[in-house]
Amino acid sequence: MRKQIAAANWKMNLSLEEGLDLIEKLLQKDFDLKSNQLVLVAVPSLYLIPAKEKSGGKENVFVAAQNCSSKNNGAFTGEISAAMLTSAGIKYVLIGHSERREHHGETNAELAEKINRCLENNVIPVFCCGEPLDVREAHTHNSYVEDQISESLFHLSAAQMNGFIIAYEPIWAIGTGKTASSQQAQEMHLHIRNVIAAKYGQGVAETVSILYGGSVKGANASEIFGQPDVDGGLVGGASLIVDEFSTIIKGLKQ
Ligand code: PGA
Repeated sequence: MRKQIAAANWKMNLSLEEGLDLIEKLLQKDFDLKSNQLVLVAVPSLYLIPAKEKSGGKENVFVAAQNCSSKNNGAFTGEISAAMLTSAGIKYVLIGHSERREHHGETNAELAEKINRCLENNVIPVFCCGEPLDVREAHTHNSYVEDQISESLFHLSAAQMNGFIIAYEPIWAIGTGKTASSQQAQEMHLHIRNVIAAKYGQGVAETVSILYGGSVKGANASEIFGQPDVDGGLVGGASLIVDEFSTIIKGLKQ
């Protein structure tokens, strides 16, 4: 049974105090996670360790990083490596968020290297993909996302792809309040699963969790997550509001 995941992405928001308070209040909410359900909270690097301590090792709740370097160590001022995440007890990291691609010029080839560093260091990547508005309007979104996936992931073995986590986030739906319809999400998620099946076989594709991201909120989460190929969500704005995010968690499929 593949994992159903509600992942918060705080981006560059909240003071440390506000962030720790949010985690504390979230953990007081009455969601009950099944063994195949996970909650991830991707926080600014500076907050990783205190946020992890605050989450107190609650079962199936993990603090995640928002990025890591494609290098293991060395003269890369301001960067953090997958090896450092492991050494600090952080198990999950977002890789290739569209804001990293746009503002930091991350390419599919560089992201392939980041994925390698994660897997070498036992950090679980959440690989983000998704098309900009002009690509959607030109109706070339399927091949655009397929290229992102094949160029960054298709050097992996079937064993490495087993249970992999991908987040599909159409850029035109991020932070815009404009959500993809649940039908648009399902169509792309099925396409992604088919692309993986064509390379690795249906058995492996069925184990891959594909999260939807882009203006997910309490009011639309359960409908989107209810689609057969949507395995949860990556949530920005609504993850900063404790009641919203706990409703989103409750919207996960079992
Ligand atoms: P949003 O962001 O939920 O605010 O649209 C999603 C994301 O960028 O991960």
